[in-house]
Amino acid sequence: MGKASARAANAGIQTEQAIALVRQENDRFSMESGRARRAFVLTFGCQQNEADSEKIAGMAKAMGYEIAATPEGADLIVVNTCAVREHAEKKALSTVGQYKHLKAQNPDLVIAMCGCMVSQQHRAEEIKRRYPYVNFVFGTAALGAFPALLWEWMNTRRRIFRAAEAETAIAEGLPVRRESGYRAWVSIMYGCNNFCSYCIVPYVRGRERSREPEPILAEIRELVAAGYRDITLLGQNVNSYGKGTKAGWDFADLLAEADKIEGDFLLRFMTSHPKDAGKKLIDVMAASRHIAHQFHLPLQSGSNAILAKMNRHYTAEKYLETLDYLREKMPDVTVTSDIIVGFPGETEEDFEETMKMIERAQFDMIFSFIYSPRKGTPAAAMEDQVPPEVTHARFDRLLELQNAIGAEKNRELVGKTLRVLCDGESKNDKATVSGRTEGNKLVFWRGDPAARGNFVRVKITSAEAFALQGELLND
Ligand code: SAH
Ligand code: SF4
Ligand code: F3S
Repeated sequence: MGKASARAANAGIQTEQAIALVRQENDRFSMESGRARRAFVLTFGCQQNEADSEKIAGMAKAMGYEIAATPEGADLIVVNTCAVREHAEKKALSTVGQYKHLKAQNPDLVIAMCGCMVSQQHRAEEIKRRYPYVNFVFGTAALGAFPALLWEWMNTRRRIFRAAEAETAIAEGLPVRRESGYRAWVSIMYGCNNFCSYCIVPYVRGRERSREPEPILAEIRELVAAGYRDITLLGQNVNSYGKGTKAGWDFADLLAEADKIEGDFLLRFMTSHPKDAGKKLIDVMAASRHIAHQFHLPLQSGSNAILAKMNRHYTAEKYLETLDYLREKMPDVTVTSDIIVGFPGETEEDFEETMKMIERAQFDMIFSFIYSPRKGTPAAAMEDQVPPEVTHARFDRLLELQNAIGAEKNRELVGKTLRVLCDGESKNDKATVSGRTEGNKLVFWRGDPAARGNFVRVKITSAEAFALQGELLND
């Protein structure tokens, strides 16, 4: 690897130089062929990856690529991968497998892989061995090096593997191409220090690093000025925001300051960790003008024995204290959670504790996951892995219980008028319009899709576990 690309991982300016070089080459191509080169970016995984992909597309656009909606006919394909469960890895690998025939049709097609899955050494090696048509690979720490790596590939035609490496300083100012004109992600921190025993994220995203508050606030101000209505602050554990920053602010300070920005917008954040979600944060939310009364607070398990083995550093009782305070301060708050079923050693009694917590907590919705052993994590080496048939039976019972609770919670909204951000025409039914409430619940109504990107008032007329139906109020 050349010196230029080594530096490009660390500093925005070198990224800019590489962008300019590729741009020249792409402009020459356009002149000769009469068409612009096209780039296709495919994303697996969480919002953090979606936010990274918007930067990849932003860099590609700055390099002169047109952003394509499908891989067919693309000149550059970037696959941004996830490693959180085995299923996510399998999907990414099988998708890349299908690109082999595109490469056969167009030998000049450049295929790159990035993100969490390829940040693991064993996966990078697998790509090297079994996917010879993948031209270069860059891990999460090398996001800003993408243009330099592409330039290097174009010049040397030697495959490049920049998989697992130490995290770099946060590259500020990378170009962004946002998918939406009214909903936006803002990453406020990268990495994770928690090492929950089941989780691969700390290994593939490195140690926690927070952005300074000023560039974050500047980004939010810019978004609001550009008409963005729904802004989500992202980090693996936003509650520990601020460590190591010069400003020394905590997450509540950041939110309080962001709330002072004038405009018609909602601020959200994810994800919170129950051990760090404190009263100060909840007080700031309750007193705010813009912060959505919505909280995603992953519980993972209701059993204290399992929580300890998961290295979560809280108990079910401590969790409930936070939850109760949240509801006391904001009775209208929407609360969602994550649950893992079948963690190693989970007994029938442990699972019953989870069921009891689900009854008690009355979440609006949960994301439930079947435990997936991740290579290199402590839990993967634990004894007493739960047999799949036991896990699946528990998973089904959990869903059944939560669906009933979710439907009941949603029915409480019938008759209420809610502020909803319109997403335009619904995918399945052209006569129907959909949108999201402040609590991020999906709502359908008959109406004009032209309200897309604006807040409207919808009176809720009926409800199910996963969606609400309503009538548009014209006022
Ligand atoms: N940092 C966030 C999100 C992490 S990944 C948090 O701490 O909540 C999102 C969810 O995936 C986790 O909350 C957890 O429920 C689930 N998850 C993570 N690793 C998993 C694994 N190995 N098997 C199954 N689910 C997992
Ligand atoms: Fe994974 Fe835990 Fe970090 Fe979330 S807090 S990313 S679950 S290690
Ligand atoms: Fe997946 Fe990486 Fe997110 S592992 S869940 S894309 S942080």
